[in-house]
Amino acid sequence: MLRTFLFAFPVVWFAACRSTHPAPPPTTPAAPAVVKVNEVAAALAPGLTLDANDPATCEACHAAVVSEWKESLHARAHHSKDPLYAAVRALRTEKQGPHIPGACAQCHNTRDPVDHESKAAQAGVTCATCHQLEGVHPGRKGLAGLMVGPEKRFRGPHDIADGTSPLHANGPALDALKDGTTLCLACHGEEQNPAGVPTCTTGPEYVVSKETKSCTSCHMKELEGRSGAVITTRTTHRSHHFAGPHQQQRLASPGMLEEAVGLTGRFDGDKVVASLENRSAHGFPTGFPARMALIEVRALDATGQELARNITTDPMKEHPEAVFNRGYVDAEGKPVLAPFGVKLVRDSRLKPAEKREVSLAVPAKTTKVELRLKFFLIAPFAAKQLNYAGPETKPVVLAPVIVAR
Ligand code: HEC
Ligand code: HEC
Ligand code: HEC
Ligand code: HEC
Ligand code: HEC
Repeated sequence: MLRTFLFAFPVVWFAACRSTHPAPPPTTPAAPAVVKVNEVAAALAPGLTLDANDPATCEACHAAVVSEWKESLHARAHHSKDPLYAAVRALRTEKQGPHIPGACAQCHNTRDPVDHESKAAQAGVTCATCHQLEGVHPGRKGLAGLMVGPEKRFRGPHDIADGTSPLHANGPALDALKDGTTLCLACHGEEQNPAGVPTCTTGPEYVVSKETKSCTSCHMKELEGRSGAVITTRTTHRSHHFAGPHQQQRLASPGMLEEAVGLTGRFDGDKVVASLENRSAHGFPTGFPARMALIEVRALDATGQELARNITTDPMKEHPEAVFNRGYVDAEGKPVLAPFGVKLVRDSRLKPAEKREVSLAVPAKTTKVELRLKFFLIAPFAAKQLNYAGPETKPVVLAPVIVAR
């Protein structure tokens, strides 16, 4: 208060000298607002111990958020909980050197980037990763972009005075989190492999899409119900499931893939034409470069007998136009996994908002065609290179679109 007064005083004084108007009367500084401790929290707090790296210790007061987060891929971002990530991390460490685990930690286990097996590291992308922050450095990636704040000071989308929670400090709303995009792009923005070839480009894809919706408006949908026991005023909250294709695959529930692509079909002479429209705000697929999607076309006769299909065993040989993926090669031109590529030779993914047609000649007797979108968390080629056989190798198959002649 004293400092405010000293700074304010000379301004008033100069203004008074230069104008013929009388100086405004000195303002009385506002008395500090009385902070009311949250009564529910005050009743719950005795006996609780808070550990910023252990989301279970947040549960008493923020239960809905904690149980959603536990189901999210963020809770599985550590190599002990995500076998596909563990496989890529192990192969890259073997081929590229012992610095790899430290590099991965910058986004996968930011809470302990030194001891990769500690409890804090195992928590993955945890509450404190996103909330124990004072801001985000523009243009920097992962942990280097996160302005980590004091221990147990958690800032969220609302202005909350210190003292409201008896167990941790708060503060003004965190802009980078509240805008729904800046914080996400610190880790989801852009990645290159050691040869400088782009691998993840969700950030630039989002920028060219000119999408006005934030990442959180699609990936943290508003749900009925309070975020936890301490909330008395709001009846909804934003989901911490961080919905995406993994969740859909693991829980076998309709998820975001259903919204990703608009798909319709029509007959055109002896051909059937599938029309696709990317409705996500970035490429389809986006993110991890080994994802793949494809359109399977099945031609049926009047009895429902299959007459033809575009893909049986090898999509890239049989109907490459129906496959949406990226392809990397080494110096000899041999296909390799993204981290080992010197060149990106194929990027047939749907661009944001892109409309594309894929056609296939069908036998004359065809009366009906089934179009199916299939999504692979790991493309067959990449799974083979990694010697990986986990559940991510099975595609998520969406309900077919039926086109009748
Ligand atoms: C700049 C941040 C960042 C760094 C550094 C990073 N990753 Fe990731 N990684 C991500 C994000 C974000 C995703 C999720 C993208 C998606 O789902 O498509 C991801 C996903 C993955 C996946 C897919 C996992 C799955 O279950 O589908 C693998 C594999 C992976 N990363 C490997 C690595 C390895 C190995 C390293 C270290 C060499 C590493 N990442 C470093 C941000 C990063
Ligand atoms: C990947 C980043 C991320 C992680 C991890 C994360 N949050 Fe959040 N959290 C957010 C964002 C973004 C919002 C703001 C959503 C909105 O726009 O309302 C939010 C909102 C909240 C809110 C406000 C809820 C309300 O009633 O409006 C609470 C409380 C919260 N988070 C607690 C937690 C806890 C506890 C954990 C760990 C179990 C956690 N968060 C993990 C990003 C994250
Ligand atoms: C004893 C109860 C209690 C526990 C345990 C607790 N909090 Fe809170 N927290 C509160 C209260 C009370 C608020 C203020 C809620 C309000 O006024 O909207 C709050 C607010 C927050 C916010 C700001 C949300 C917003 O709307 O902007 C975040 C983030 C947060 N807590 C994170 C955590 C994390 C992370 C943990 C566990 C490590 C945790 N809290 C444990 C009581 C608790
Ligand atoms: C208009 C809605 C929308 C917005 C806005 C949006 N997304 Fe998505 N996102 C989707 C849909 C739909 C999918 C599922 C299709 C897919 O996996 O490509 C998805 C998938 C993803 C995936 C999973 C990719 C994978 O294969 O594992 C990540 C990561 C992601 N989005 C990050 C972001 C980030 C970061 C932003 C903000 C820059 C963002 N999204 C903005 C709709 C949206
Ligand atoms: C500290 C880095 C970091 C931040 C910040 C971050 N993420 Fe992630 N996110 C990851 C990593 C790493 C993965 C992949 C983990 C894995 O597969 O092992 C991931 C995965 C995801 C997925 C894929 C889910 C699925 O089912 O396929 C979505 C969606 C997502 N994040 C959305 C968001 C959104 C929205 C924000 C901003 C509120 C955000 N993330 C902020 C690191 C981060």
